[in-house]
Amino acid sequence: MVKAKITSLGHYVPEKILTNFDLEKMVETSDEWIVKRTGIKERHIAEKNEYASTMGVKAAKLAIERAGISPLDIDIIICATITGDYVTPSTACIIQSEIGAEKAFSFDISVACSGFLYAISIAEKFILEDPSKKILVVAVEKLSSITNWQDRSTCVLFGDGAGAAILESDENSGICKTFLKSDGRLYDYLMVALGGSHEPLDINNINSPLRYLTMQGNAVFKHAVNKMLESIEKVMELSFWKKEDLKMVFTHQANIRIIESIRKSLDLEEEKVFINLEKYGNTSAATLPIALDEAVQKGLLKRGDKIILSSFGGGFTWGAISIVW
Ligand code: UT7
Repeated sequence: MVKAKITSLGHYVPEKILTNFDLEKMVETSDEWIVKRTGIKERHIAEKNEYASTMGVKAAKLAIERAGISPLDIDIIICATITGDYVTPSTACIIQSEIGAEKAFSFDISVACSGFLYAISIAEKFILEDPSKKILVVAVEKLSSITNWQDRSTCVLFGDGAGAAILESDENSGICKTFLKSDGRLYDYLMVALGGSHEPLDINNINSPLRYLTMQGNAVFKHAVNKMLESIEKVMELSFWKKEDLKMVFTHQANIRIIESIRKSLDLEEEKVFINLEKYGNTSAATLPIALDEAVQKGLLKRGDKIILSSFGGGFTWGAISIVW
């Protein structure tokens, strides 16, 4: 049976690193608090002239090169981002132009941290419809552009970066089962309230903190633990996999305490749960492809391994996908 397989990956993070010690000089916080409460030590921050598309293009070019294909082979580009270059056009269209993928059609999706999961799930549907399709998924965030650098409860958490994946059909391995969910009733727990059509930015609200990302941290924490756990268990059940079958689980990288809580509930060994948040913080949609690419580059995954990806983010949106790598 045909499956949609991630045949290559690439990622890019900006050169500039902002450490917890740098943040100590910006807001009333400490390296000790940040490490203890989140696990994050540093994050990468884009330069002013480095946009979502700039980072996305770098990750995409790497994934295309590693797949051994030409940009002209790509049929579809899906970009998952909440910090695109412009309101319109889509960042996917900018990336299409920059890489010269003239044959493709391109679009963005807005699913916050769950963007990569939703994007590869959409890619899967196109591939099952026509197995000849080659699809580029880019998940990229310049969260520094919507971060309130005066709010210690959020600014220590986020970072910038991009991940990209090429998806193609395969007879043996690839995406097995998908479980995606949202609960829009909780939309205002994690949001940027100003700058959309609900309340456009104007001279009266331009300095309001509501133009930046705001979050009810404790509530988001609890939902993130419960919903990622529920999703991982669901796709394990749908895939008929036991925990012994799993090579590795990749969760959203927002807080080490969230990841540890999920690991303990699943009764998984430490080495079966990938963690890289100490270097990047929470890069929203880019988190999962950055983590996956790092694991592949480190030789932690081999073809045929059973893995699960899971995420949770604004909306709320969440889910999990089981993959035979
Ligand atoms: O991307 C979507 C997914 N996002 C997440 O999953 C994030 C989920 N939430 C979290 O990770 C945590 O809730 C936070 C890391 C955001 C906050 O951690 P917490 O342990 O829940 O802290 P808290 O909000 O309960 O705050 C505890 C104390 C407060 O002080 P008081 O009121 O007890 O005196 C805060 O003011 O810690 C204080 N605090 C800080 N102190 C030093 C909050 N932020 C900081 C800070 N440095 N950066």
